[in-house]
Amino acid sequence: MTRFSLNGKLNAAELQKVFPVLSRDIRGKKLTYLDSAATTLKPLRVIDAVDRYYRHGTANIHRGVHLLSEEATSLYESTRTTVKDFLNAADEREIVLTSGTTAGINLVAKSFVKSRLKEGDEILITTMEHHANIVPWQMLRDETGCRLVVAPVREDGSLDLPAFKSLITSRTKFISCTWISNALGVINPIKELVIAAKSAGVPIMIDAAQAVAHEPIDVQGLGCDFLVFSGHKLFGPTGVGVLFGKMEHLEIMPPQIGGGDMIKSVSFEKTVYADAPSKFEAGTPDIAAVIGLGEAIRFVMEDVGFALIQAHEQVLLGAAELALRDVPNLIILGTSHPKAPIFSMVVGKIHPHDVGTILDLQGVAVRTGHHCAQPLLARFGVPATVRASFSIYNDQEDIKALIQGLAKTQELFA
Ligand code: ALA
Repeated sequence: MTRFSLNGKLNAAELQKVFPVLSRDIRGKKLTYLDSAATTLKPLRVIDAVDRYYRHGTANIHRGVHLLSEEATSLYESTRTTVKDFLNAADEREIVLTSGTTAGINLVAKSFVKSRLKEGDEILITTMEHHANIVPWQMLRDETGCRLVVAPVREDGSLDLPAFKSLITSRTKFISCTWISNALGVINPIKELVIAAKSAGVPIMIDAAQAVAHEPIDVQGLGCDFLVFSGHKLFGPTGVGVLFGKMEHLEIMPPQIGGGDMIKSVSFEKTVYADAPSKFEAGTPDIAAVIGLGEAIRFVMEDVGFALIQAHEQVLLGAAELALRDVPNLIILGTSHPKAPIFSMVVGKIHPHDVGTILDLQGVAVRTGHHCAQPLLARFGVPATVRASFSIYNDQEDIKALIQGLAKTQELFA
């Protein structure tokens, strides 16, 4: 039983009340928010925690002996403990607080992977990666002469698992792959990918940016070396994220950014770095966002729970699939299951931006474009799609609004 359960199900109507943005009118219409894959809405608990810090507790962390600084430090560090429990990490020193998924991937690329590479070595990713899990590897490729190997995606959007496995060779030095495709919603068999990597002795990083709001995560159970996610896709603030790394890795990784709060001692001759994770957290971080992230995770775990989240989202997924099937000339990219309730759509010959604009006029917020996954869309031969992504606060009314919006768009462009 959690705060938002009712007869064993998610009480979406009650849940909607703690997301203030949902009470907004958009161009005179009730807001239908279907862009949670880009960023989730924020519940009052998170907004209040951020507000409390600025209103009553502004202070820097790890620096002052005064009460406000002590309180801020304790709130900041309590997020690390909350994240450790949330991910089932073995040690809270394995939790690096970052500015987001992108920062985490770049840190691992530069600090862990780069020194292991020589010309001809390979890094394995998949076709369904977000640009954040492509570009940092291309930068390494240009610096080191290594090769970027890309596992293919099938016509239904699923990862070609046999091909993925066959691409792991003695040249593979690192694997980095997404758990859930942000553009298609397709869920990868992540445990199997980790097993394939580990049995070949190759370190693996999981991009959990999309997965974090849909799947419970157990890094010890998975056995991954690294895992990254962003707070803002988990009902938390923007500008904060997490890099989980196994202690044995973090210990030997050099910091990439030098400054305050990441040292044991500094003289003009020599600086001794702090231990992990502090050595990766130079400078004053986004303290309010970190506090908000802790609150977001407690909201998910205490008030909602993954059992209800997954059951609710699977109902939405099934209902939306059924309803979208009846929309003429609509193609969904990424039909394979298991799948999160994310729909990448091509609506006849109508340009996705036009579809998005007409939907917006009806209060329906979707993302249009390449979703920071241009190579994946190129794989399907399209430059852009309309993406509707659902979350815990969505309900059947939102599916109806989307379907009506699409009908209206087709009517206008007929
Ligand atoms: N990565 C985010 C998305 O998929 C921004 O929209």
